[in-house]
Amino acid sequence: MTDHRLALIVGANRGIGLGVTKAFLARGWDVIATARDPEGAAALQNLAALQPDRLSIQALEMNDPAALDGFAGTLRGRVLDALLLNAGVSGPEHRNASAVTEAEIGALMFTNAIAPIRLARALISRVRPGSGIVAFTSSVMGSVAANAGGHELYRASKAALNSLSRGLWAEMRGRKLTMVSLHPGWVATDMGGSSAPVSVEVSAAGIVTVIEQQSGAHQHRFLDYTGKELPW
Ligand SMILES: NC(=O)c1ccc[n+]([C@@H]2O[C@H](COP(=O)([O-])OP(=O)(O)OC[C@H]3O[C@@H](n4cnc5c(N)ncnc54)[C@H](OP(=O)(O)O)[C@@H]3O)[C@@H](O)[C@H]2O)c1
Repeated sequence: MTDHRLALIVGANRGIGLGVTKAFLARGWDVIATARDPEGAAALQNLAALQPDRLSIQALEMNDPAALDGFAGTLRGRVLDALLLNAGVSGPEHRNASAVTEAEIGALMFTNAIAPIRLARALISRVRPGSGIVAFTSSVMGSVAANAGGHELYRASKAALNSLSRGLWAEMRGRKLTMVSLHPGWVATDMGGSSAPVSVEVSAAGIVTVIEQQSGAHQHRFLDYTGKELPW
């Protein structure tokens, strides 16, 4: 065992989650990374092969309530210095509340808002008291104050995540917990597309810096990957 700080990253097999995993490892943290299909997560497997004592990979499907509720038991008592709930989806291609089916909105809301909160609540007792931090990958699109229209279903799912995370923070107020809802920038991933202006590397390095800086602040803030405050 090492005395490195430990981060758990949910949804770490590609995109921003994979970038953040690499950035945490580069800063000397140990990482538990989740993937729906660890066997197929080649990039994570390659990283773990290089540093097997610092990176472990766990299976987790966010849309499986039993997996969410049972996940804490797989940590075998390890204490988390940072917990990042990053997994997310963009929702149906039509993006339209007037066209959405109950199944489509159910899947979007469950993955982007309910599952992260349910998992955070199940894991919160594993987060280090005092200095530990719980981070959610939100989006500026979840800001009600900055809503410029469009993408209304995705926006609603991230606004719900922001509301639920604030509620969880209030629920935990006596425990000196730190929480941050993060906008990673518009990032060049499968979700963000190739014309996005921010690279995964720049976003991920910024996210790790914000998490390190906020740790122990005992606040809940809505920040972007540069540390800029965003309107709720
Ligand atoms: N890219 C942007 O510009 C941008 C901007 C603002 C916010 N965000 C947010 O940043 C986060 C990461 O986005 P990204 O751009 O890296 O997206 P991405 O490349 O599409 O990656 C999404 C990640 O979430 C995982 N995931 C999706 N549904 C899941 C489920 N049901 N259970 C477990 N894991 C699941 C995916 O796993 P699989 O490989 O198994 O699908 C993948 O690891 C998301 O929350 C997104 O909403 C992104």
